[in-house]
Formats: sequence, structure tokens, C-alpha cells
Amino acid sequence: MNGGHEGFAMTMPTDLLQRLTGLVGPTGVVTDSSDLEPYAVDWRKLFPGRPACVVRPSSTEQVAGIVQICRDAGVAVVPQGGNTGLAGGAVPDPSGTQVVLSLNRMAAIRHVDPVGLTIEAEAGCILKVAQDAAAAVSRLLPISLAAEGSATIGGVVAANAGGVNVLRYGMTRSLVLGLEVVLPDGTIANGLRRLRKDNAGYDWKQLFIGSEGTLGIVTAAVLRLLPRPKHAVTALLSVADPAAALRLLALAQDELGDQISAFELISATSMQLVAKHAGLKAPIAEGDWFVLIEAASSLAGLREAAETMLGAAFEQEIARDGVIAESGAQAAQLWALREHVTESEAREGKSVKHDVSVPLTEVPRFLSEAGDALAAGAPGTRVNAFGHLGDGNIHYNILVGPDHDAAVVNRIVHDVVAAFGGSISAEHGIGQYRVGELARYRASTEMELARTIKRALDPDNLLNPGKVFSS
Ligand code: FAD
Ligand code: MLT
Ligand code: ZN
Repeated sequence: MNGGHEGFAMTMPTDLLQRLTGLVGPTGVVTDSSDLEPYAVDWRKLFPGRPACVVRPSSTEQVAGIVQICRDAGVAVVPQGGNTGLAGGAVPDPSGTQVVLSLNRMAAIRHVDPVGLTIEAEAGCILKVAQDAAAAVSRLLPISLAAEGSATIGGVVAANAGGVNVLRYGMTRSLVLGLEVVLPDGTIANGLRRLRKDNAGYDWKQLFIGSEGTLGIVTAAVLRLLPRPKHAVTALLSVADPAAALRLLALAQDELGDQISAFELISATSMQLVAKHAGLKAPIAEGDWFVLIEAASSLAGLREAAETMLGAAFEQEIARDGVIAESGAQAAQLWALREHVTESEAREGKSVKHDVSVPLTEVPRFLSEAGDALAAGAPGTRVNAFGHLGDGNIHYNILVGPDHDAAVVNRIVHDVVAAFGGSISAEHGIGQYRVGELARYRASTEMELARTIKRALDPDNLLNPGKVFSS
């Protein structure tokens, strides 16, 4: 692939700046170095970049114009939403030549249809704002993650985000009905249909979902909503080990059936980090592993089913301790324990993150073998494991000291993942963080297929170069 952005001057060509300013107006272009700061570095502060400038369009036509202007100048464009991504996908490289295209001024909700069960929002709309708009008409937008107060609809679609409700509602992909995308040549592809059934030709929007801004710029999306469940139960239980957590999942499936919307695993280490850095403590006896379960339904009887599940879990000695939230406020307190893990881990110091999935029933063996491999190959590291057990997706994050080599730790964990037929990125994507690892673990045929798509849409490699593939 052609590294089209390389070799350009370190500073931005004046005529390019003039053309961009002419298109979006002076308030739509950021050049002051202190104002550029939040756009330059990723959430984990692993990839400090240096944008030539940040452009903030207010319409799809402006996005198309920016892409055309940059293409004419041979300048790379890096799409950015809320910049909460955990793989360094939304920030420019340090060359000072790449233009960040921030969608944060395109934040409108264009419609909410409570009967047709759809919402149409612009790319820069904050996920929480879209969730609240759906809730205001008693509908549910089930994409839910701890960064939902900053993550945007465009970023969520481009990352095919997962989160805590995938078990019941699927990844973002399963909720996207229509997309509007600006292609790397500046063409606008408008597929903003609200249809539930549409087999007319290729379903091209699927290419852009999860493409991490490398194939096109998402400018708006139509997402599927669901009726908002009237009742919810949230329970926190402690179990002896991950195998017991899986037995609890089977029990929950028996008692709560298809009403289970979240089944999250939290290790004792995660709980300790949350206590230390967020001052939050679990309201049950200390244990080695915890499971946070949520179920939701509009029909009566959910609470009774949850109590039956809890009783059976104690009787069968699957759970050691447990509590069911008595109110929405208590449920929020239980969720806060889970939602503060990532931030608390960041405060603890350096960590090497792994966002892995293995076949669900293999999670206990994976955890044990990865732990053994690390003890042998990277002694002195600490495992902070937590995540979406109901999806077979564990955030197997390793707390390391200054002398540990992140690449070595990565390799140890990912080799175990590969041995289980797992994935090195379950939900966070590749970004810059996992480019080398993807090339190592994905079959060359699959990589070549992906490159064929990239070349077809972006032959000059001007859209988010260096992400997913090396430039
Ligand atoms: P950004 O970070 O701005 O961008 C992400 C990627 O999408 C980049 O490659 C970027 O170039 C591209 N992009 C952004 N906007 C567009 C656009 N309009 N068009 C084309 N490309 C675009 N993720 C999960 O999947 N599950 C979780 O449970 C989860 N929990 C998190 C918890 C915390 C505390 C944090 C900080 C992050 C978490 N994330 C999680 C990661 C992140 O929040 C999601 O990936 C989210 O979807 C990113 O949205 P964003 O708007 O911040 O995108
Ligand atoms: C989460 O589920 O909280 C995030 O995806 C996790 C992470 O920090 O790895
Ligand atoms: Zn996650």
C-alpha cells in the first residue's frame, strides 16, 4: 500500500489551511497548540500524536469537502469522535502532517421513532445523549459502556463497540440499520434507510462498521431501538473461581432465560483497584471473583426469578455471598464498581491491556493457562482480569513494573489466546496498538482480503493510515 502522507512538510501548507478555513469558517479549524492537545493524544496516553490541525465540520457536505481538499493536497485525514478508544485509532501520528477531522460539531439527533423503533443521529452525538433520547419515549438504545458519556455514535459504529449488553442485544453492528458515509474520494454514500429488511444488493454499510475510520467517515447512523423493559434486577455475587462463574451463568440461563442482559466477571484485583482509586467497596463479603448480573423485562416476576436463582446458587454452593439491588440507586452503586475498573487501573500505573475472546466455556482454562505462562515468562506482573464473561470476552490486563517489556507480555498472552482459537481483539479494535499483533495472528489470506478492500476504497492510503494495517 502506498504511504501517501509520508514525505510532506512538517508544517501545514498555508493554502491547505486557507482552503479548509474557507470551507468550515475560522471557528471550525483549530491550530493553536494548547487547543490541539485533547485531540492529539489517545485516552490511555500511549500514542502522543501531532496534528497539522483539527477541522470541525458542521455538515456532511463539509466533511466531503474536507476530504476532497486533503486528498487534492495528498494529506492524510484521521477521523475522531469522543477520543475514548482504547487502541490509539483516533489520533494522528507524530509527523505534524495529518489532519484530524473531529465530528464533535455534528451532534444532532435527527429523529426518534418510538413505533418504528429507530433513532437517527449524527456521528458526533454522544452515546449517552442518544440513550436518553430513546429513554424519553420509553425506548431502549442498548449499547452501553463505561465511556458512554464521551463516546460518540460515529466512534461506536466505526469501532463496532461492544459493552455490557452484547450478551442479549449483540455488538453495535447488530443495531445499525442505516449509515451515511463520506468515502475517501469525498463522495457521500447515503444509506440512511430505516428498513428492517433490505436485501437489495450488497449490504455495503457492514464494511464501515468496525473499520476504525480506515475506509470512510461515518457522518450519521440509523440505529435500532427496543421497547424499554419496565423492570430490571441487578445482582452482585461472589464465587470461588471462574469455573463457578460459568456454573452461575448456566443457572442464570435456566432461571432468567433470555432476560439476562449482562453477565460481567470482576476479579478481586479489580475490586481492590476500585476500592483504592475510586473509594468504592462491594457490599458483600470479600471474595476471589465476583459476577455482576443484570436482567430486564416488561413482564412481572423478574425479581422472584432472580431470588430463585440466588437461592439455588447458595444451595448448590456456586455462590459464596450475594446481593440483589433493592432500588435503582443500589443497582447504580453495583454498576459503579464495574464501571470504575478501567479508570482505577489507569491510576494504578502502567498496564498492558488485552481485550481477548475465547470460546465461552474455555474462559476458566484460558485464565489459568495465561496466568501460568505469565508467572513463568514475566514474573512480577499482576493480572487485572475482568470483563464480559457472558460473551467469552475478558479484559486480561497486566499491571507491570518499569522493567517489564510490554511486547513480551503481549506475546505470552496472545499465544495462549491463539492456542484456544481466540481473538486478540474482541471489541476494542486494532487501532495502532495491535497492528503488529493482528498481522501475526490473522491468516495471510484474511489479511490480504482486508487489504484488497482497503486498496479498492482508499488507493492512496489517505484515510487513517497506520491503523489496522501498517502503512
Ligand atoms: P474515538 O475514540 O474517537 O475513535 C475510535 C475509532 O473510530 C478510531 O479509529 C477513529 O478514527 C474512528 N472514528 C471515530 N469517529 C468516526 C467517524 N465518525 N467515522 C469514521 N471513523 C470514526 N469499548 C467497547 O467496545 N466496550 C466497552 O465496554 C468499552 N468500555 C470502555 C470504558 C472506558 C472507561 C473507556 C475509556 C473506553 C471504553 N471502550 C469500550 C472503548 C471506546 O469507548 C469505544 O471504542 C467507543 O466506541 C469509541 O467511541 P469514540 O467516539 O470515543 O471514538
Ligand atoms: C470495559 O469493559 O470496561 C472496557 O472495555 C475495558 C478495558 O479497560 O479494557
Ligand atoms: Zn469491555
